Amino acid sequence: MADKNVQRLPAEELYQREIDALISVDKDPVPTGWRMSPRAVLHYITGECTVKGIPISAKYIGDWRLVEIAIATLLTDRALLLIGEPGTAKSWLSEHLTAAITGDSTKVVQGTAGTTEEQIRYSWNYAMLIAKGPCPEAMVKSPVYRAMESGSIARVEEISRCASEVQDALISILSEKRLSVPELGLEVPARKGFSIIATANTRDKGVNDMSAALKRRFNIVVLPTPSSIDDEMEIVQTRVEELSWGLDLNASQPDRDTVEQVVTIFRELRSGATLDGKQKLKTTSGVLSTAEAISLLANSMALAGSFGDGSVTAKDLAAGLQGAVVKDEEKDKVCWKEYLENVMKKRGSDWLPLYRACRELNG
Ligand SMILES: Nc1ncnc2c1ncn2[C@@H]1O[C@H](COP(=O)(O)OP(=O)(O)OP(=O)(O)O)[C@@H](O)[C@H]1O
Ligand SMILES: [Mg+2]
Repeated sequence: MADKNVQRLPAEELYQREIDALISVDKDPVPTGWRMSPRAVLHYITGECTVKGIPISAKYIGDWRLVEIAIATLLTDRALLLIGEPGTAKSWLSEHLTAAITGDSTKVVQGTAGTTEEQIRYSWNYAMLIAKGPCPEAMVKSPVYRAMESGSIARVEEISRCASEVQDALISILSEKRLSVPELGLEVPARKGFSIIATANTRDKGVNDMSAALKRRFNIVVLPTPSSIDDEMEIVQTRVEELSWGLDLNASQPDRDTVEQVVTIFRELRSGATLDGKQKLKTTSGVLSTAEAISLLANSMALAGSFGDGSVTAKDLAAGLQGAVVKDEEKDKVCWKEYLENVMKKRGSDWLPLYRACRELNG
């Protein structure tokens, strides 16, 4: 039974009912090492259906074809690389794909500048190594190692932040499909079902550019920012709802107009023009992604629930907007002020309360 006090449950526990229902009605062939057929995985990710009375929620909202390509890649001998702007659901999709396919989304290596080759391969429990010498019990297996051994999927987050020797370690694993442990005279072959889902952020490009050799071992799927405002509003509304169930926010869901205002502001500042394309705008330095809009609204709900009457007001929103938009004190403050005066103020009475609250904060 899932522990309700855990702050964030892995997808396979949070959505266990959906996964179990999909498995129980699955009639298509199930690939070796998988828990359900590719089609069932697609249904799990895209949702919008009911199985055995259990509604399957949409995990990824956007082009289904991209999800199909991602799933199909995992059937081949190539690994999957999800790339895109920050907050385009790369990690989210990778977690849900592994949850549905293997029932375990927790084999993760977080890529940073400090990630070492051992974190991709294996390391040692030094106390035991000294006491007993190299032996299987003294070995600390990496998530990738465990995935190879069990024929499941490991996730490597932010792969382009890893140093090149770490990326090279992955090349050898992905091409040989085996990992050698010379200390034990061991060769670990990858079992069927083994694959890797990596994510990379386009904003990190150039930090440690992935080599052509590594890229060639991946099928690359680019996750786009939502193409229309309606899509983005749907993502934000759905995710805020789901997110707030798990948190004790004591606030009601923000209404459609509120969501529309936040998404409009984000889309305009992101693209550097008003939605109707008539007015050019200066862009701000912070990342105004869909993910950011989701957390802004959740923050506003927390403010409203804790210090207000439980419904999100313009003041609650303004606090979050100021924090999201103004990342660089000097430059962003000026852009934001221009936006407030030249765009928001002129949008009529619906926008006036938000304009006033934002102006007050931006000083
Ligand atoms: N198209 C989408 N469908 C469903 N949810 C989305 C979509 N786009 C963004 N989200 C939501 O945005 C949130 C953040 O996504 P996630 O952390 O996966 O972003 P990311 O692409 O990994 O970003 P980063 O590059 O910063 O790591 C998630 O809660 C996810 O539900
Ligand atoms: Mg991510």
